[in-house]
Amino acid sequence: MAQTMKQVVLAAYAQGNPQPGDFRVEEVPIPQPGDGEILLKTLYLAVDPLLRFSVDETVLTGGGRAELGQPMIGPVVSEVVTSNHPDYAAGDVVEGRSGWQEYAVLAPDQSDYRGPPRKLDTTLAPVSTALGALGGPGQTAYEGIVNVGRVTAGETVVISAAAGAVGSIAGQIVKVLGGRAVGIAGGLAKCAALLDLGFDAVADYKAPDFAAQLRAALPEGADVYLDNVGGDVTMTVLPLLKRGARMPMCGFIAYYGVGMEGPGPDRLPGFYRLIMNKGLEIRGFAGMLAGQKGLEDIAGWMKQGRIRFAESIVDGIEAAPAAFSSVFSGHEHVGKLLVRVAHRG
Ligand SMILES: NC(=O)c1ccc[n+]([C@@H]2O[C@H](COP(=O)([O-])OP(=O)(O)OC[C@H]3O[C@@H](n4cnc5c(N)ncnc54)[C@H](OP(=O)(O)O)[C@@H]3O)[C@@H](O)[C@H]2O)c1
Repeated sequence: MAQTMKQVVLAAYAQGNPQPGDFRVEEVPIPQPGDGEILLKTLYLAVDPLLRFSVDETVLTGGGRAELGQPMIGPVVSEVVTSNHPDYAAGDVVEGRSGWQEYAVLAPDQSDYRGPPRKLDTTLAPVSTALGALGGPGQTAYEGIVNVGRVTAGETVVISAAAGAVGSIAGQIVKVLGGRAVGIAGGLAKCAALLDLGFDAVADYKAPDFAAQLRAALPEGADVYLDNVGGDVTMTVLPLLKRGARMPMCGFIAYYGVGMEGPGPDRLPGFYRLIMNKGLEIRGFAGMLAGQKGLEDIAGWMKQGRIRFAESIVDGIEAAPAAFSSVFSGHEHVGKLLVRVAHRG
């Protein structure tokens, strides 16, 4: 085994959307596990939009924070290389948060509130799905559509950032529940990919006639809007919601680069007027409240062929900074964007 490894460290707090230059790749010795510890080899790392809050100079979230000069934090799938802990054996594949580095040592008994690394059933699906359909994004989609959105058969659901990790699963859950799924994404290729995943209609928010496309896709309005984006996209959707529509507020990626206050000018008056006039029920949610039930349902639907996991994979840990930056600046990837750090075995 090699003596040294690469890790991606935070070189500067992000100003606006994250840039590749906010990170640097360093070569360091591979750590050795002590008593009660395990040595992990990273297979995949996820470039999640919410990690933007972890690289801001201002503390924007109570969750994990990356420190300058330290490895970037974030969810990864790893293989156990050496175990000095009774619950793990060499060869186990786990999902945890050991960050953007090729190897990591963890003490499962001293885990934070997220708990010890989750052992994966490697027979269920490719292990990469633990960072997508069968991980946080899948649970988020389930929470937004099933628990917060309370979608029922026959309802029309419109989803922003529909070609992303959350949206691509959310639309398919709508179909499983017997609803009509309308996806909003940027560009013709992404919209075509959504139709291929089973969405009933799409609208391209980067096209000049986006509002007309959305009106055509929602001739009778929408019962539920799963919002991942905020901003102009949401202001275009709101007038098309039915009276009393539900709006699970999942994310607001259009604003992640602009800090706490938003870009201004203040559009809240118009926003509130629409909420009031339409009697909208808006509920924000954060965290993986869908829990094990959500993952079990999604896994069952995957086995039945009713849900497909879309993922795009780029190779090499050095690709992580550019991949993370591309989440905010537009890329052609559909589904969960992952960085493959190593192959298994
Ligand atoms: N509430 C929770 O617990 C929870 C958990 C996980 C994720 N989230 C949130 O859910 C949302 C989706 O996450 P994800 O994991 O699916 O992300 P993802 O796979 O990385 O997809 C994000 C997509 O958002 C679109 N986007 C980026 N900037 C945009 C902008 N300014 N306007 C419109 N669209 C933009 C891009 O697609 P296009 O090419 O189509 O523009 C991008 O591919 C994010 O807001 C994330 O923070 C919330």
